[in-house]
Amino acid sequence: MALRLEPGTKLVVATHNPGKARELAEILEGRFELVTAGELGLPEPDETETTFVGNALLKARAAAEASGLIALADDSGLSVAALDGAPGIYSARWAGPSKDFTAAMRKVEERLEEAGAEDFAAWFTSALAVAWPGGPAVVVEGRVDGTLVFPPRGDRGFGYDPIFRPEGLSHTFGELEPAAKDGMSHRARAFEKLKAALL
Ligand code: IMP
Repeated sequence: MALRLEPGTKLVVATHNPGKARELAEILEGRFELVTAGELGLPEPDETETTFVGNALLKARAAAEASGLIALADDSGLSVAALDGAPGIYSARWAGPSKDFTAAMRKVEERLEEAGAEDFAAWFTSALAVAWPGGPAVVVEGRVDGTLVFPPRGDRGFGYDPIFRPEGLSHTFGELEPAAKDGMSHRARAFEKLKAALL
């Protein structure tokens, strides 16, 4: 039988990141009944895999097993071409335990200076995984390309948004209206693929 996600299904969103949870809710546009792993008090598993896809599957499976609900997880991050794809899957970890993204953005800038980089090309990736408790899982990946700008601009969004200017726009993600970011983000592009696979 083909896997399907029926409208109105209760889904646990396997994240403790409020920025991500908000964007996923915006992108899902009321299609499902959502509860977050944070709200259910589920533990946050260690992200021990080496790819976005691997970590998204790991988080979705852990949340599905712990809650008995179908789980949706996003593993995402910023990759910088001149830094060989760093911080990549370590994007959250570059901000340290206090989740200081001002420091993380400064670290990206310092690493680019140290490397003498002239190319500031970067991209965001989002792997979205859906896992059924005790059952199968599906995972897809979306990407948006752009350029890094310093100093950071804008106070919308979250994480590295203030230093990321998507291709074709003069504003950073940190300066965009939420609906504009949601129309082109890596997360939205991954969700389009998920829709094609499951809805
Ligand atoms: P993780 O998927 O929980 O490992 O964390 C992903 C990290 O990547 C976030 O904490 C952000 O730092 C960064 N990130 C992912 N998506 C975005 C985005 O849309 N804007 C800005 N930063 C992002």
